[in-house]
Amino acid sequence: MGKIGDNLQLNPKETIRKNIIRKKPILDREPQYFKGIPLPSWIELSLIDSCNRACTFCPRVDENIAPNTNHKMERVLIDKLYKDLNDIGFNGAFSICGYGEPLLYKDLEYLTNKLGQLGQIEIVTNGDPLNEKKIEKIYQSKVSQLVISLYDGPEQIILFNDMMKKANIPENFITLRDRWYDPTLDYGVKLTNRTGTVSVGNQPETTNYKKRICFYTSYQIMIDWDGNTYLCPQDWQRRVSLGNIMQKTFFEIWNGQMMKKYRKKLINGNRDLSPCKNCNADGQVYGENHYNAFKKIL
Ligand SMILES: C[S@@+](CC[C@H](N)C(=O)[O-])C[C@H]1O[C@@H](n2cnc3c(N)ncnc32)[C@H](O)[C@@H]1O
Ligand code: SF4
Repeated sequence: MGKIGDNLQLNPKETIRKNIIRKKPILDREPQYFKGIPLPSWIELSLIDSCNRACTFCPRVDENIAPNTNHKMERVLIDKLYKDLNDIGFNGAFSICGYGEPLLYKDLEYLTNKLGQLGQIEIVTNGDPLNEKKIEKIYQSKVSQLVISLYDGPEQIILFNDMMKKANIPENFITLRDRWYDPTLDYGVKLTNRTGTVSVGNQPETTNYKKRICFYTSYQIMIDWDGNTYLCPQDWQRRVSLGNIMQKTFFEIWNGQMMKKYRKKLINGNRDLSPCKNCNADGQVYGENHYNAFKKIL
């Protein structure tokens, strides 16, 4: 066990850079194929439609956009998703993050034990629901990484490192991200407007991104609590679903007309469809291998 704070750079830009480097080998792996179609390397899940916080830079702060509904993903959906992914031999990774606070979801271990049989799982949390017992349970349930957003201050480093030490869990199981800064430092977050829903901080103009190629639809997909699927974690508007996991197979959605339409546009640097036309996300941080693979096909 290292010294307190060893696993954190107190420099938000450096923390963001290190986290990107950590994730790159997972998201930018050589694509896996099914029926000649590249499969995603990263599936994000939103397990619960509520959060105990309301951060200024998060759409959750606005009840008109993201009210706390407390809706949760049911086991029947998890089982269906598992079956669909198992049928196509999926072995990419899962991000348990989404539109709420994942650790408020009470059936977490069922999901991680199940999907963890297919690929590695990372959980992103504000850390509030954590305690020694909870962290131990998560560690034992096929989760490979716990990413904790520190929104309050450096005292949280001591809190979480102490928790880990008492639970006797290896230090590299958690990634701490310093995110307690003010708007001049973009709150320590690689800030985006979440497709036109957030305007705080020093955000780039959407107009600068209108013709920017976006890799998102080539390497990942977002699945909401009710099985609706969305383009990416930027899409907080959730107006147009690409399909529902309870009505179609995962592969039918991934290779479906709607996804193809967006993918083709985004691969060609065209963000004119909603919600992409309101987006200022870089779109090229991860996923270049998958983008190249789709470019050959489309
Ligand atoms: C919506 S949160 C869900 C997970 C958990 N509640 C948390 O805060 O870590 C997912 C991630 O989005 C980040 N986030 C929220 N609003 C953002 C924005 N406008 N731009 C970029 N990242 C944002 C959060 O800091 C967090 O890392
Ligand atoms: S960033 Fe996370 S903790 Fe903050 S309001 Fe959004 S979901 Fe909740």
